[in-house]
Formats: sequence, structure tokens, C-alpha cells
Amino acid sequence: MSYARILATGSYLPEKALTNHDLEKIVDTTDEWITDRTGIKKRHIAAEGQTTCDLAEAAARDAIETANIKATDIDLIIVATTTPDRIFPSTACLLQERLDIHGCAAFDVQAVCTGFVYALSVAEKFIKTGEAKTALVVGAETLSRIINWEDRTTCVLFGDGAGAVILQESDEPGILSTHLHADGKYKELLTVPAGVSEHPELFAQGKAKITMLGNEVFKMAVNTLGRIVDETLAKNNMQKSDIDWLVPHQANIRIIQATAKKLKMGMDNVVVTVHEHGNTSAASIPLALDVAVKSNCIKRGEILLLEAFGGGFTWGSALLKY
Ligand code: ACO
Repeated sequence: MSYARILATGSYLPEKALTNHDLEKIVDTTDEWITDRTGIKKRHIAAEGQTTCDLAEAAARDAIETANIKATDIDLIIVATTTPDRIFPSTACLLQERLDIHGCAAFDVQAVCTGFVYALSVAEKFIKTGEAKTALVVGAETLSRIINWEDRTTCVLFGDGAGAVILQESDEPGILSTHLHADGKYKELLTVPAGVSEHPELFAQGKAKITMLGNEVFKMAVNTLGRIVDETLAKNNMQKSDIDWLVPHQANIRIIQATAKKLKMGMDNVVVTVHEHGNTSAASIPLALDVAVKSNCIKRGEILLLEAFGGGFTWGSALLKY
């Protein structure tokens, strides 16, 4: 039976960095508050006119070059994003055209911060069933476009960026299992409560922005991520000590620390980029993965646990041998 294995990773961050001190000039906040409550020190912000597809393209080209494949070897493109360039075509189709690939399936996945785990899981199924051999899976966001820059409870948290992986058919173990969940009853706790169909007037006025009951989300995230760690280990008959690296969604250092504690894992084995990137939603896991791989922290053959929690609520995990 063939596996889907990560062949290479890539990432891209916009040039402009916004520090906590910069934010002190925009809203009533302090570097100390943001650092203590979230671990975030800075985040990157896309330039005017720079789109999610621009970020996705740069990350994808990085991954393609690192994998040493031709773009035309790719026969599936999935982009996880909450901030697509257009209502349609999908960002995946726009990316396909940029990469001069024609004909293969290309579509977006919308699961907010869990988007990359969802996309990876779908791509794995395509590969395992023989529908695809080489998939490009991207998480890319320009969240700065849906931030209310007057709301200090949310604007300090998010950033822009993109990460990508090339997933390829292999006889060697790669992705061992993925676990996806959602519960729409929590839709109001973390949302952009307007779009092209619901409250189109707010959307047209540029008032479709993130709202969040942070404290409620925090508690749910910690409990839910604890449960999904157990579910993932049980499915694979593994112990906590079998995990070499935790690659978590980068929302808040305190949520990450709680999951590491649940795994009885020292922070030395947890990939942390939240201080540098903020919460980049669907881009956060592939960005963190690329940083850890390119800095030679994560090595071939190691066992990685990827996990995420986000709007919906959605949550999910992927256990893989790198
Ligand atoms: N600067 C200074 N003070 C602030 C700020 C700020 N930026 N933001 C809020 N405060 C104040 C609040 O007004 C409140 O003041 P009060 O006590 O006078 O009312 C106080 O700080 C405490 O606010 P809380 O919301 O209780 O702070 P908390 O410790 O919960 O931290 C945070 C807030 C960081 C948002 C946290 O709740 C969190 O990380 N939540 C989860 C976020 C998350 O994981 N989201 C999921 C993924 S995101 C996605 O899917 C798109």
C-alpha cells in the first residue's frame, strides 16, 4: 500500500513586519500585554495590492525548487485559505495558472485555522487512492484584510503569510493518520459575520471583519486539542514518547504550552514561530514546518504531530513520519 509523504516544504512572509511597539501607536495596548498573553512579538503584513495568491505562489515556488521537481509534475493543487483573492475562481486555480500548470484538479479548502490540516488530509486521500501522485498543498492568508484595526482584542493577534508542501506517493511511510472535526454550533464565537450572501451590505462597505470571544475560544481550544492528541495516539497505537516534534497551529503560546504539557513534551521539541509570525491561520502550520525543516531541527524519519483549532469551530491533527 502506498503512502503520501512530504517531499519538501516552502514558505513566504511579506516584507513588512509590524511589531507590538508599532501596534501601541494604533490601539490602546502594550508590548508587555501582547507578549504575556499571546507570546507574539511581531507579525508580517502584506503590501498594498499583494494578494493571497502572490504569497501562495512564492511559497509554492520555494517548495517546488526544494523538492527539485518540475511544476508540471504536480497533478493536484489544494489551497487552504480564509482570505481568497476572489470569490471565484478559487485561489488554487489562480495559483495553477501562475505556475503554468494546466488540467489537474485545483480547489480551495475553507476551514480557517485548521485549513492546512484539512487540505493535507484531502490530498493524502487523493494520493492513497491513486487519483494523484504529486500534490501541492498550500496554506496562505492575507488576514490583515479582514482585521478590524480599531479592535485591540483581535488586531494584535493575526498576520499574513504562506506555507506549502509537496506531497508525493511513496512506498516509505509518510502521513500515518489524519483526524478532522468540526462543530458549527460555535459559529458566533469566532467569525467574520458577513459575506456576499449574508449581510452583503457590510461586505460591500468593507465592514466584514473578524470578531472573537477570545476567552471562550481559548478554553475550547485547550480542551479540544488535548482530546485530539489522545485520539491520534490511540489510532496509531503510539505513546506520547513516540512523538519527536509537535508542530502546532500558532495562535497563542499558552495554548501551545498546554498541548505540549498534555504530551509531557519539553518545549525544545515544539516548533514555535508565533512570536515571529503571529496567527497566520491556515498558513501557520506549513510556515512553522518549513522553518523547522530548513533550520535542520526536524530531520527525515522523525515522527511529527501537527494539530490545529480554528473558526467553525474546526479542529484536526495529522501524524506523520517526515
Ligand atoms: N491590549 C491590552 N489589553 C487588552 C487587549 C490588548 N490588545 N486585548 C484585550 N485586553 C484586555 C481586555 O479588554 C480585558 O480587560 P478587562 O479585564 O478590563 O475587561 C483584559 O485585557 C483581559 O481580556 P481577556 O480576553 O480575558 O484576555 P485573555 O487572557 O483571554 O487573552 C486572547 C486574550 C489572547 C485573545 C486569548 O483569549 C486567546 O488567545 N484566545 C484564543 C485565540 C485563538 O486561539 N483563536 C483560534 C484560532 S484563530 C482562527 O481560527 C482565525
